[in-house]
Amino acid sequence: MAIRWLFATLHLLALGIGLGAVWARGRALQAELDAAGLRRVFYADNWWGIAALMWLATGLARAFAGLEKGTAYYLHNHVFWAKMGLFLVIFILELRPMLTLIRWRRQVHRGEQPETQAAGQFARLSVLEAGLVVLIAMAATAIARGYGFPG
Ligand code: HEM
Repeated sequence: MAIRWLFATLHLLALGIGLGAVWARGRALQAELDAAGLRRVFYADNWWGIAALMWLATGLARAFAGLEKGTAYYLHNHVFWAKMGLFLVIFILELRPMLTLIRWRRQVHRGEQPETQAAGQFARLSVLEAGLVVLIAMAATAIARGYGFPG
């Protein structure tokens, strides 16, 4: 099934894109945030957003549109729930940086210099999110190999 292959490829590519992007965003947030520095932050943040959408779109289809092992399999799998829980934690951690970066983008667009005191905290959050992505990858490879059922 070519569609199954395509979605698996896109899902895996999101890992390459997303991990690199969130790490790069963390590094960029630690550097000087002049116009060029902010452009680097926004660029990395764009790719982090694209990866999140790719994970969600292809992941939901793989889990619940019968592309892989079927809905019932995943809903009864503990490691799948752990994976979803970790994904939710990333989403919650990401709310503040996401909203703040949207504000910064608007300000830069209007020619204003944003207040960037929160940058250090967002850099640490980005590194934490990168660590959570690695844990999600570990959960995903466990699910693919049949782990996650009691006994
Ligand atoms: C940070 C987010 C995510 C990462 C890093 C990630 C990573 C991965 C990886 C590496 C695989 C391939 C495992 C293998 O074949 O060895 C995989 C498979 C899969 N992922 Fe994700 N994923 C993420 C988010 C999601 C989401 C949000 C969903 C569903 C809502 C999802 C559903 C699936 C499914 C159904 C599979 C196939 C598992 C199987 O072979 O049975 N993923 N994921």
